[in-house]
Order: sequence, then structure tokens, then C-alpha cells
Amino acid sequence: MKIVRSIAKMQELSRQTRSAGLTVGFVPTMGYLHDGHVSLIRLARESANVVVVSIFVNPTQFNSADDFTNYPRDEKTDEALLEEEGVDILFLPDAADVYPQGAATRVAVSGLTDYLCGAFRPGHFEGVATVVAALLNMVLPDVAVFGRKDFQQIQIVRRMVRDLHFGVTIVEGATSRERDGLARSSRNARLCAAERAVAGAIYAALSAGAQEYGRGQRSVSVLKQAALRRIEQAPGFRVEYLEVVDPDAIKPVDNADERSVMAIAAWLGPVRLIDNVTLADQALAVTEGTSTGAQSPAANTAIPTHSGV
Ligand code: PAF
Repeated sequence: MKIVRSIAKMQELSRQTRSAGLTVGFVPTMGYLHDGHVSLIRLARESANVVVVSIFVNPTQFNSADDFTNYPRDEKTDEALLEEEGVDILFLPDAADVYPQGAATRVAVSGLTDYLCGAFRPGHFEGVATVVAALLNMVLPDVAVFGRKDFQQIQIVRRMVRDLHFGVTIVEGATSRERDGLARSSRNARLCAAERAVAGAIYAALSAGAQEYGRGQRSVSVLKQAALRRIEQAPGFRVEYLEVVDPDAIKPVDNADERSVMAIAAWLGPVRLIDNVTLADQALAVTEGTSTGAQSPAANTAIPTHSGV
């Protein structure tokens, strides 16, 4: 595996690959890699000849300096995992190169950021869109892979790529889940044992909403009540939002249809967890018994307060 820090070198390697008639698949990450990233890397491998993974903890998408500082990092373990996965290039750009002195350009995808995470994390998606645009220009991939867990993010990236005519195909990787259904995320490492024991309730709540949908219920307020009842059985959660949205407009709807997505953000101790499902697909998975996890949350487990790592 080549480790590349220079943007010019990265661009040169991509251009060489493409002029040799090969394709470049790209997985942008912020590191602290887990099985969810591995599944995206394998998808990139299926979609392209040469796989590039970037690790860059992007300062402009964090809402607080503390969150940026506390974001978990472990470059050595990440490097070993990428080597084992047969990744061709690990791209590690420096913040000073990504954002050169006096950088004044921002990419804003309007409309799609009004609800869900966009409503609670001002500036977050501008930071994401700006860095993804910059990374696409640095890596020059044919295909870029993003995880479905960050549903609003991938919709924003798709719109940006379409509107600004980036010549790249965006591929969506399914949400990778733990046995209890918890969506894999680098932030999960900051949950203490008691929090981790109940964290699967977030997925169980989405599944409960989907089950109501599967029974024929279309009223979003009823679907939301079913999901909220489920999450309230687990101690320690503070729900930030629970919405059912149209997936293209990312706007809440009153009545769900077969494309509607139920999305949630909830705090558990120091960690903000997010997740989402397409209600119709999840209803089917629950009925057919193919949905991951969704075991009962361990009700009445005490959550100690701590400041996290
Ligand atoms: O999903 C992430 O890890 C980040 O938001 C991304 C896409 C790497 C941009 O910093």
C-alpha cells in the first residue's frame, strides 16, 4: 500500500491509473476505521481497479472544538487494517494543504440541509460538501463510496456531484450493523459499557416504526409514536429528532409512502447517534426476519454519567 500525503502526487497517481485504462475507487473517511468502513472498501474494490482510502479529520464539519479534539484517532491501527484489506493507496492530506492559507470557498447545498442533522448542526454540511468537493478534486476518482448510515450526507453529496458536474459515480454502501442492530460508527467507541448495552434501542425504535408501516399505518405521527415508545423503554436516550422524510427533498411528510425514510438522532451519554431506514424495506425485513438485531433494549440498566473519552 502506498501512503501519499501530497495532493499533487495523489493527482498524478490517479491520472496515471486512468491513462492506463484502469478505474479509481475512492472511500473518504475520518479514520478510526471499523467493519462499516471495511464494507465500503470492499464495495470500492468491486467497483474499480485501484482503491484509494483517505483519512482526514475535517475540522470544518465539527460544531465544537471539543468534538473535533475528542474525535477518536488511531492512524497506526487504521494503516494495518487498510494494508490487510489490500487497499492500494492511503491518502493522508495535511490540513494546511486541504485548506490553504486564505481559503475562502465554501460549497453549500441549499434546501437539503434544512431538516434532520442540518437543522441541529449549523454549518456541518457546508463543511462536509466543501471537503468532499476538495477530496474529489484531489483523488480524481471514477467511483466514490459513501455509507447509507449518513443518509442526509450521501443525498447532499449526490446533489453536489450532479449540480457541479463532477465526473464521478456515487455508490451507496448499506449501513453496517452490530448484532443488536446498532449502526457502526467511529463515535460508538466513546460509549461506556452500560450505554453500549442499550444503544441498540435506536435501531429497535426505527424497526418498531417500520413494523407499524408494515401493518398498513401511513400516518407519520402514529409511526413516530411507535418508534418513540420503543426508545423510551431504554434509559439514557435524549432524542434530538425523529422524522419521516421524502428522500429526495429531505423534508418531513405527514403520510408515509414506499420511499419514505425514518431518520433519528439521539444522544446517549456523550455520544450523538444517528440512524435511518426506508420504512417499507425495513417493514419487509422485519416480517421476513432478515433485519439485523433489534433485540430488546436492556430496560432499567443504569447509565452512569461520565465525560466520555
Ligand atoms: O462520513 C465521513 O466520514 C465524513 O463526513 C467524510 C465524508 C469523510 C467527509 O469528511
